[in-house]
Amino acid sequence: MPVVIGAKPQADFSNPIGVLHDCHRRIERFLSVLIRVTEAAGGRALNDEQRVAMNTALRYFREAAPKHTRDEEDSIFPRLRAMEREEVKPVIGRVDALENDHSRLDADHAEVDRLGQAWLDAGTLPQADAARLAELLAGMARIYEQHIAIEEREVFPVATMVLGEPDRKSIGNEMAKRRGLHGSL
Ligand SMILES: [Fe+2]
Ligand SMILES: [Fe+2]
Repeated sequence: MPVVIGAKPQADFSNPIGVLHDCHRRIERFLSVLIRVTEAAGGRALNDEQRVAMNTALRYFREAAPKHTRDEEDSIFPRLRAMEREEVKPVIGRVDALENDHSRLDADHAEVDRLGQAWLDAGTLPQADAARLAELLAGMARIYEQHIAIEEREVFPVATMVLGEPDRKSIGNEMAKRRGLHGSL
């Protein structure tokens, strides 16, 4: 058992729902980084620490976060929809709404990425663009808060309850493959 100081141990792909929870913590962390940097600098020149933080957070949302969406939309939600079990029915409507959130968040992330990159490239961001960036991020924080709460309190517990060992293994393998990791779990 590895010793972890100041952090919960990260789940591995043998516990796919655990990995999804860990991804949520990263989404929250990197979104708060973007909010903090945008608030602190307000379109003015970024210091070195702010540049690195902004660059890292933008890259996370561009490269890693979309895999989390694919995990849910391609590996978890279709298996729930295919189940004929009574306890799954209440979450199916939730899943439709969650997919709508994903589309909205994708569009918002694209705009945040464009504005954040423009800021990094030019060194400063015009006032109107900085205000738009702050407004976008505040809206996304509200959506993510509800979205993640629904997934963690309603959808994932049902998924954990109804998905059997073969599905759990397949989901873990699909998630590992999305991240370029091979080998059967
Ligand atoms: Fe989601
Ligand atoms: Fe999620």
